[in-house]
Amino acid sequence: MTTRETHPGTAGGSTGPAAHGGPDADYTPEQLAAMPREELDRLGAQYDNVEVLHVDPGPEPGSPVEKRAVRQVGLTFALAGLAALAFVVVYVGSGWFLPDWQWEITESGWSAIFTPVLGALMGLSLTLVGVGLVLYTKKLLPHETAVQDVHHASHFDQVTTGATLVGGLHSSGLARRKLITRSLVFMGGGLGLMLLMPLGGLIRNPNTGDPLGTTPWAEGVRLLRNDGSPIRPGDQQPGSLETVFPAVPGGNTVENADAATMLIRLRPEQVEENRPLEGQENFGYGDYVAYSKICTHAGCPVSLYEQETSRLLCPCHQSQFDVTQGAKPIFGPATRPLPQLPITVDDEGYFVARSDYIEAVGPTYWNRERI
Ligand code: FES
Repeated sequence: MTTRETHPGTAGGSTGPAAHGGPDADYTPEQLAAMPREELDRLGAQYDNVEVLHVDPGPEPGSPVEKRAVRQVGLTFALAGLAALAFVVVYVGSGWFLPDWQWEITESGWSAIFTPVLGALMGLSLTLVGVGLVLYTKKLLPHETAVQDVHHASHFDQVTTGATLVGGLHSSGLARRKLITRSLVFMGGGLGLMLLMPLGGLIRNPNTGDPLGTTPWAEGVRLLRNDGSPIRPGDQQPGSLETVFPAVPGGNTVENADAATMLIRLRPEQVEENRPLEGQENFGYGDYVAYSKICTHAGCPVSLYEQETSRLLCPCHQSQFDVTQGAKPIFGPATRPLPQLPITVDDEGYFVARSDYIEAVGPTYWNRERI
């Protein structure tokens, strides 16, 4: 676009209207309303001082070139819609949108590729949309090179600009090229659904049944080592720690990862120093205490025990918890104690839980208080 010293109505390089005092003075609204769109388009160009330098009208309607381009564009848009619908199918199977149905998630890898598959399908869909638009613009739209001088907008300008826009839509051939129109509708539907899918996460209450606040621990559930063997009070040395799991099916699998618990046998001097949290004085059994292994900062497994200082250490961000002070945090970013599991022994002398944890294990969240 260039600007030149010209006056309204004197189109550069083209013949303007014969007489004018401004387009609104030259033409009444009734005259404008009676003109066909092409005439308005042409007049608008003249009064806008638009000089068309080059016009490539695009492929001949109905020609083999046009038909081939229409098929290419339609196929691209249809594939974009299919990729978007595939995204929807995969997403719906996440269990967030339809809580009663979801893809079977196994440890063999589906859960690992779920998010990459979603990303790949969305990326493929949007890429195909872009490719389709580029193909449509390059192969089917008329191409025009024009220059224009700028002047103030008026009613005349508004009417003629509207005609120009409608003319652009008309020359796009969308109304005539049904295959592209249908593929656009199909693609738009798929893309719309794809973009709506993430709202599914807002529909389901993730804490229905309090899955974030409960673990498989319950009254009478034995404490098992990772190899499945139960534990008696005399099995551990003073000052030692054993990671234990609930004696339920899959108790030591990733599905019950929040149940991992540290069973600690205190040394005699630690027993004297032991100050359980208020209301939890009887949660231990003899010189044993059991605390959640899930860090209350960000959920890492607390895995280091320094018995000389009675400290449990979380390797992720160095939070430290004192096992003789109800596992209160004494260093690092964690702000609340590791929950303590109430334990006792059953008739056969093996350690069992007296109940589930009395509060949610792991990182603090909005409703950790369960009782
Ligand atoms: S997760 Fe344990 S300190 Fe951050």
